Amino acid sequence: MARLVINALNKKSRINKEIYGHFSEHLGRGIYEGIYVGEDSAIPNKNGMRTDVVEALKKIKVPVLRWPGGCFADEYHWMDGIGPKEQRKKMINTHWGGVVEDNSFGTHEFFELCKQLGCEAYVNGNLGSGTVREMSEWVEYITFGGLSPMTELRAKNGHPEPWKLSYFGIGNENWGCGGNMNPDYYANKYRRYQTYVRNYDESKTISKICCGANVDDYEWTSEVLKTCFRRSEEKMHGFMDGLSLHYYVHPEGWEIKGSATDFDEKVWYKTLAKAWYMKELVESHGRIMDEYDPEKKIGMIVDEWGTWYTVEPGTNPGFLYQQNTIRDALVAGITLNIFNKHSDRVKMANLAQMVNVLQSVILTDGADMILTPTYHVFDMYKYHQDAQLLDSCIETEEIGLEEAWRVPNLTESVSEAQDGTLHITLTNLSLDEDYAVETVLTGFEAGKVTGEIVHGEMHDKNTFEDPHKVQVRPFDEVTLADGKICFTIPRCSVLHLAVK
Ligand code: AHR
Repeated sequence: MARLVINALNKKSRINKEIYGHFSEHLGRGIYEGIYVGEDSAIPNKNGMRTDVVEALKKIKVPVLRWPGGCFADEYHWMDGIGPKEQRKKMINTHWGGVVEDNSFGTHEFFELCKQLGCEAYVNGNLGSGTVREMSEWVEYITFGGLSPMTELRAKNGHPEPWKLSYFGIGNENWGCGGNMNPDYYANKYRRYQTYVRNYDESKTISKICCGANVDDYEWTSEVLKTCFRRSEEKMHGFMDGLSLHYYVHPEGWEIKGSATDFDEKVWYKTLAKAWYMKELVESHGRIMDEYDPEKKIGMIVDEWGTWYTVEPGTNPGFLYQQNTIRDALVAGITLNIFNKHSDRVKMANLAQMVNVLQSVILTDGADMILTPTYHVFDMYKYHQDAQLLDSCIETEEIGLEEAWRVPNLTESVSEAQDGTLHITLTNLSLDEDYAVETVLTGFEAGKVTGEIVHGEMHDKNTFEDPHKVQVRPFDEVTLADGKICFTIPRCSVLHLAVK
């Protein structure tokens, strides 16, 4: 019997809703086909956005969307994507498949998408190959409400009112595809570029995101903070509001990656051990951030995370299209539990990527759409958005088939929503063991418990032929007696309990 101890009297950080954020790049069928089909498409759409996809995304309450990249961001020139569509410049998407980008999805379309989703906008600017002026004018075009050349242009293009821009990224992966810079060079460029990301409306502050490290590059974190950190005082803004971190799970390493659907038990545990490694990354980068910012005013922004496999056979290698199984559900459940439990520092995270690319929540094929196991985990975890993290811990044991890739059998996080409901999310990483759990609750009078679960065999997935094989199912085998909640969590599962 594993004990789960929850102390509802010990309220910890607020779980920013943005931890449940998404990322969509001009990559493969992520935006074009996956989200944007154009107004003339036979696929039902509103202002060019697929209604099926938008409706599904609204259900999981997408809180924030990052766009246009990724590596694409540092090659993107925003002025190519405004004005009459037939006059927009065409370009080659050199990073992703060498296909023609016709720029029919640009700034106006992105904000239309955010409006339809009801989410915050996170735009990633171009520091790698763009000028300071270009970046500064983009922010002016988006956010300025007064009279200026950029606002006149915006009005001419059909949108007199400014939009709300909540987050702005100043470069992406500038240690790699965003210019191959060393930390010192990037940090100085960052200081300069961020100066011109103006806050035209002090009541709607733009949070500035500085490019952070790749995986465990702690030197990047230290060096960038050394140059860019400035404490924000009353009349003097700091230079940054967030520092990003990118980490992908490649089961067999960056070169080989590994199949999304054809893997054995050893690779199951290896993948989950790599997902669990996020905890160490968040804590280690967090310790460096603490040296500069002990009050945790700067957010750790994990704006790219997820599984990255070998592409589906027969698809364009540059499109990063992959299937999604119960293993991905576990990766999502484990990772989101880690973010919740570190929400004092992790202020945003963006799954890569929302539709048809990497660990997507949705896959499309022409007019058809399926929801992935990862989607269902986001659906069950949505109750944590903006809830209060509670102190909790669970008894675990190490499991796995290889010494190097051992993992805890269970992970959990617990929060209290604004309506007073307690939400417990758990993952069982074991391939063959169900675990009995006894929950001991302090400071909370439990009256009723309901449950839902995503569970299956390790290779289970949804396909266009069998779209509902993996879905959220009710979980009723819970008892509540003497204030204790008891249940058995099945192997290979992600579970959500709501306690009132
Ligand atoms: O998400 C795919 C790519 O991964 C992004 O473009 C880049 O930032 C990262 O390397």
